[in-house]
Amino acid sequence: MANSKFVLIPKQPSAPELVCKIPGPKARKLVARDKKVMSPSYTRDYPLVIDNAIGSVVTDPDGNRFLDMTAGIAVTAAGHSHPYVVRAIRDQTARFLHMSGTDFYYDQEIMLAERLAKLTPMSGRNRVFFTNSGAEAIEAAFKLARHQTGRQHVISFWGAFHGRTFGAMSLSGSKAIHRKRFLPVVPQITHVTYPDPFRPIDLRESDSIVDFTLDEIEQTVFRREVEPDEVAAIFVEAIQGEGGYIVPPLDFLPRLRDLCDRHGILMVCDEVQSGMGRTGKMWAVQHVGVQPDIVVSAKGIASGMPLGAIIAREEIMNWPPGSHASTYGGNPVACAASLATLDLLEGGLIDNAKVVGAHLIERLQAVKEEFSAIGDVRGVGLMVAADFVTDPKSRCHDPETRNRVVQECFRRGVLMLGCGESAVRFCPALTISKKQIDVAVGIFRDAVATVVKKS
Ligand SMILES: Cc1ncc(COP(=O)(O)O)c(C=O)c1O
Repeated sequence: MANSKFVLIPKQPSAPELVCKIPGPKARKLVARDKKVMSPSYTRDYPLVIDNAIGSVVTDPDGNRFLDMTAGIAVTAAGHSHPYVVRAIRDQTARFLHMSGTDFYYDQEIMLAERLAKLTPMSGRNRVFFTNSGAEAIEAAFKLARHQTGRQHVISFWGAFHGRTFGAMSLSGSKAIHRKRFLPVVPQITHVTYPDPFRPIDLRESDSIVDFTLDEIEQTVFRREVEPDEVAAIFVEAIQGEGGYIVPPLDFLPRLRDLCDRHGILMVCDEVQSGMGRTGKMWAVQHVGVQPDIVVSAKGIASGMPLGAIIAREEIMNWPPGSHASTYGGNPVACAASLATLDLLEGGLIDNAKVVGAHLIERLQAVKEEFSAIGDVRGVGLMVAADFVTDPKSRCHDPETRNRVVQECFRRGVLMLGCGESAVRFCPALTISKKQIDVAVGIFRDAVATVVKKS
């Protein structure tokens, strides 16, 4: 696809193409050096060493080519090293690298803020605050919510992942290991059940899973723990990401919005993983027509450069000078990459995510029909997961099979990541083609067949 300014989807070599047993000698050496010097807290599932990449094709130092279904944890929205993004970065590096938007002004940051303020799901006038990462953006939203409302308490969801800094970690309700030996967490945070259509909780006859969650907030939290006029915000992922790519029922976010409105509580939507076109719309909340008060973005926003942002209604982002800032947030090189990424997203990549995402789900459904080990295929656009179960009726998690499938995919040259207790996620670059998806799903299918046969 051509455009006067850019080629939307760059040419990529075929993949996978493995030239030696992986990891090869060069990759093995680098992994050994890494193990000696890097913090052991990282969670590498398999020894993929990247040497260079384009689009969805990653080449390791031994010359093996992998097909990437991870996009560096849902980050490289425009694909690895999209030439148009690289050119924007190069142009900016030749101008200047840094000046700090905290104290000075520059066009790239202003232009990006203008663009994001218009692209948000919120009508009316919006303002933008830039950070370097998702966690930092969550911290900014947390501080803004308290500052704006003068209230302290915050509600978030079990299964949510918002990042690793103290505020973000405290809002997360994902894994106990994230908190182990880091306690105490930030006080005044309550977690409630995220409505997961695949694993409904025991309900009263009249309940839906959305009723259950809203009742939990209104009947339990507001009655037994904190009155609603002391709650600053509810932090919610439009689609729960690290929690397992859980797509809530369509009425969940509109009804949560309504609950927030009734009590003057801010709705903070964490779109760090689900935003920037990944689901076939710029923001996942736009699928249900909800307007949050604060949107949190990062990951895909600059297609691989470190950048995060919160976008809020003008009347909400009205804190005075000095109340919040960041030396590097909104770095000009990252902003240039983001502006180029937005050109590409609006120039056709969001549409590609929608079309190719639907194709991916269809192909995965066919694999699910074949193997009872896959209990669920879910997702929107290119935010898709296949969930492994010990048996389809009980829907019990089967993390072991999931983990083995991820390993088996790697051995065959396809890069995958897990999410939730037992799901495998497909979050490729938004430049991915149907042909690449067919190759990846074919290999995934063979990996499942091998694992299931062995067990
Ligand atoms: C929904 C969500 N919020 C926040 C974060 C934290 O982002 P970062 O790792 O850039 O701090 C993540 C990271 O996975 C995420 O998925």
